[in-house]
Amino acid sequence: MIDLAIPDKTHDEERQGEALMLEPVVGKNNGRKLYIESYGCAMNFSDSEIVASILQDSGFETTKDFNNADVVFINTCSIRENAEVRVRNRLKEFKAAKTSNPGMIVGVLGCMAERLKSKFLEEEKLVDVVVGPDAYRDLPNLIDTVDGGQKAVNVLLSREETYADINPVRLNTNGINAFVSIMRGCDNMCSFCVVPFTRGRERSREPLSIVKECTDLFNAGYREVTLLGQNVDSYKYKAESPEPEVLNQDVKTTTFANLLEMVAQISPELRVRFSTSHPKDILDDVLYTIAKYDNICNYIHLPVQSGNSRVLELMNRTYDREWYMERVDAIRRIIPDCAISTDIITGFCTETEEEHQETLSMMDYVQYDFAYMFMYSERPGTLAAKRYADDIPEEVKARRLKEVIAKQQHYSHVNTQREVGKVQRVLIEGFSKKSDKDYAGRSDKNAMVIFPVDERYKPGQYANVLVERCTTATLIGHIVD
Ligand code: SAH
Ligand code: SF4
Ligand code: F3S
Repeated sequence: MIDLAIPDKTHDEERQGEALMLEPVVGKNNGRKLYIESYGCAMNFSDSEIVASILQDSGFETTKDFNNADVVFINTCSIRENAEVRVRNRLKEFKAAKTSNPGMIVGVLGCMAERLKSKFLEEEKLVDVVVGPDAYRDLPNLIDTVDGGQKAVNVLLSREETYADINPVRLNTNGINAFVSIMRGCDNMCSFCVVPFTRGRERSREPLSIVKECTDLFNAGYREVTLLGQNVDSYKYKAESPEPEVLNQDVKTTTFANLLEMVAQISPELRVRFSTSHPKDILDDVLYTIAKYDNICNYIHLPVQSGNSRVLELMNRTYDREWYMERVDAIRRIIPDCAISTDIITGFCTETEEEHQETLSMMDYVQYDFAYMFMYSERPGTLAAKRYADDIPEEVKARRLKEVIAKQQHYSHVNTQREVGKVQRVLIEGFSKKSDKDYAGRSDKNAMVIFPVDERYKPGQYANVLVERCTTATLIGHIVD
């Protein structure tokens, strides 16, 4: 898998193997040390913060060194085969630590746990506990079971669990950007995708708990929230009326456009981002809401997957090439200066050379700011694995991917060059990776912007930056008053 310009941290496989740190709390596991490492998409990283919160409440503190840990958790991803291979290799590295410390508990969490269930215990002897994404509240009990000498598995999926009441522990944070889960699961059944099987049915989190979490973040100094869901446009929460006598009144349904507005109204100083938008569900109400609020960023991640209607139908994406182009036209019309990024899969079952050309011509049409590009990887149990042969040779998939990447590199550069000479409102996130003489932050359209430190400005503040030049993915400039 190859990622080009990385616009944010909302994407699978971009962030890998980060260890999370907790403050100790008094509890029954007091003094025990937890090491937790996360793979996959932002939702998995967000879940690790929920896991950390649950375990903090039972007394765990964390370590950044798995060799010192009493409990080692790996929160896993199944999206493509190489994501799973990476986790298996990491487990091998934990083996030596467990050999020298036989009391160490090794747990597999997340999507791979859900996909493989108790098979994990047979296949990987060092694993003691397997826990799916909806069962994290059960972790303290499962650890008890392992302490009692047994292996433990809980991979039950839920139709209700949203962890709405759990206040995630923000770990390894810059104190400025945070992820907030607004829904879980996915009902779309794209034929290539394992997520509906690993994350279960779609459910939306109660909106006031989301607004409260974002307000608390703002009050703690955070200045940007990214609302997360596999398909945020299908967010829908129907308030249940507690009083029988008011049942006849309108029961309020909160849509994604309503929710965006509620979060945007917390403060004009709080930036709002969201991911992922589904082309079939992103309607004009959401676009008008983005246009209405300056603090809702002009940036939409709109995965196309393929530019050809026959392939889209085989993928069960439920839109065609024309529908997708019309949605892009609507974005351009309603939000004139909006960045658009995408996901593309090359070499899906039966994809012809002409169909691949249509993906390339879609890229010419949209001129994406960023793209995440992948070769098709067949996943066991998915509709595509059951119905269609994975018949495009690896070298053809790879060559098509190369062509897609080359085109994206071209448009990433074209788009960054368009920003040169303009003033960008940048949220300062900290020093640049290369030098503490420079600040780094992102523009409204999610481009990375680098500029010399100005003592009057601190991380967490906004600055107007005049862009003087650019690389493929970065804008370089200086603060103007
Ligand atoms: N919910 C998001 C995507 C989540 S998965 C959406 O619907 O767009 C992130 C990306 O991984 C997908 O957009 C797709 O491009 C890619 N992906 C998913 N399954 C894949 C597979 N089997 N092989 C290759 N890429 C895949
Ligand atoms: Fe997977 Fe499709 Fe759901 Fe995205 S919308 S998570 S690609 S099934
Ligand atoms: Fe995310 Fe990977 Fe699961 S992309 S939802 S962690 S399969």
